Amino acid sequence: MQATARAQPNIALIKYWGKRDTERNLPAVGSISITLDELYTEITVAFEASLGADVLTLNGAPAPDMLPRMSRCIDRVAGADRPAGRIDSVCNFPVAAGLASSASSFAAAAVAAAAAAGRDYSTAELASLAGQASGSAARSLYGGFVELANVNDDIALDVLIDEAAWPLRVVVAITDAAAKKTGSTEAMEISRRTSPFYGRWLDEQPRDLDAARDAILARDFDRLADVAEHSCLKMHSLTWTSRPPVVYWNATTLECLQAVRELRAAGVGVFFTADAGPQVKAVCLPDAAGRVADTLSAVAGVSHIIESGIGAGARRVDAR
Ligand code: DP6
Repeated sequence: MQATARAQPNIALIKYWGKRDTERNLPAVGSISITLDELYTEITVAFEASLGADVLTLNGAPAPDMLPRMSRCIDRVAGADRPAGRIDSVCNFPVAAGLASSASSFAAAAVAAAAAAGRDYSTAELASLAGQASGSAARSLYGGFVELANVNDDIALDVLIDEAAWPLRVVVAITDAAAKKTGSTEAMEISRRTSPFYGRWLDEQPRDLDAARDAILARDFDRLADVAEHSCLKMHSLTWTSRPPVVYWNATTLECLQAVRELRAAGVGVFFTADAGPQVKAVCLPDAAGRVADTLSAVAGVSHIIESGIGAGARRVDAR
C-alpha cells in the first residue's frame, strides 16, 4: 500500500497554452517538450485507512494549498473509494515558479499512486491520468523529446527521440524564485477568452509542431531554435494581450533573453524559452553550455543557475 516514484519536469519547446475541454483538462493544441534530468520531484504515496483524510507534505512541511488538486489526481488513478493517503513530496527546485513543478509532481504522483493501489496501467494510461491533473504532466511520463498530440477525445504521446539520441543541455537562469501570482491554468483560460490572437495561435500550431518535429528528427539545432523561440514569444504574446494582461517576465528575464540572442547571433548554439514564470531556459548544444552558463550568471538580477541534461520519464524508485 506504499510506493515511491520520481519524475523530472519537462520544458516545452512548442508550447501548450489553452484548453479545449476544461472538465477533462484536454489541451487545445499539441506540444513538444524535453524532459530534464537534474531536477526532480519524488513522491511517496502510502494508503492508510486510519488517517481519515489525505495528508500532503512538501519537503517535510505541510502543504494544504496543494492538497485538493493532489487528492483529485490520486482519486483518478486509485479510484475515489481508495483509503486516505499520506503523500510526501520532495522537490529539489523552486515550486510554482515556472519551472514545471506541477508536471513532475503529478507525473510522480500518478506512478506512485498506481503502484500503491496495485493498479496496472500502461504508461500511456498514466500519462492521460496525469494530464487530467496538469496538461504538461502527461509529457513527464516519458523521457527525451516528447510530442503530445490531440487524438480524437484524448491525448496521445510519442517519444520523437530518446534522451541519448541528442544530448542537448539546458541552462536555467533563476531571476525570481517566488511563487507566481497567476497560475498557468487560470492564465490560459484568460487568454482563450480574451486574447485577440488566440484563434491565430490555434491555426498556426500544427505548422510549428511540424517544423519542430522535423528539426528534432534531423538534429537541426538552428531550425529548432527558430521555431522554439517563435512558439515561446507567441505564447507570451497571448498572455500580454489578454484582459486582464498577465505578464510573467521581469526586467532580468528580458536581459537574459537579450544575452541569449546576442550569443546566438555570435554563432553560439543556444536558444531561449520561458514558461509561466520569469525564469529563462537556455537550450544549448553540449559544447556551448559552459559559455551560456557563464554569460547568464553574469546578468545582474540572476540569483543562480541550474544546469541540466535531458532525462528519463517518470518511474517507480522504491524496491518492489
Ligand atoms: C507555459 O500544464 O501547468 O508551461 O494543464 O492547467 O495544469 P494545466 O497547465 P500546465 O501549463 C503549462 C504551460 C506552459 C507550456 C507547456 O508546458 O507546454
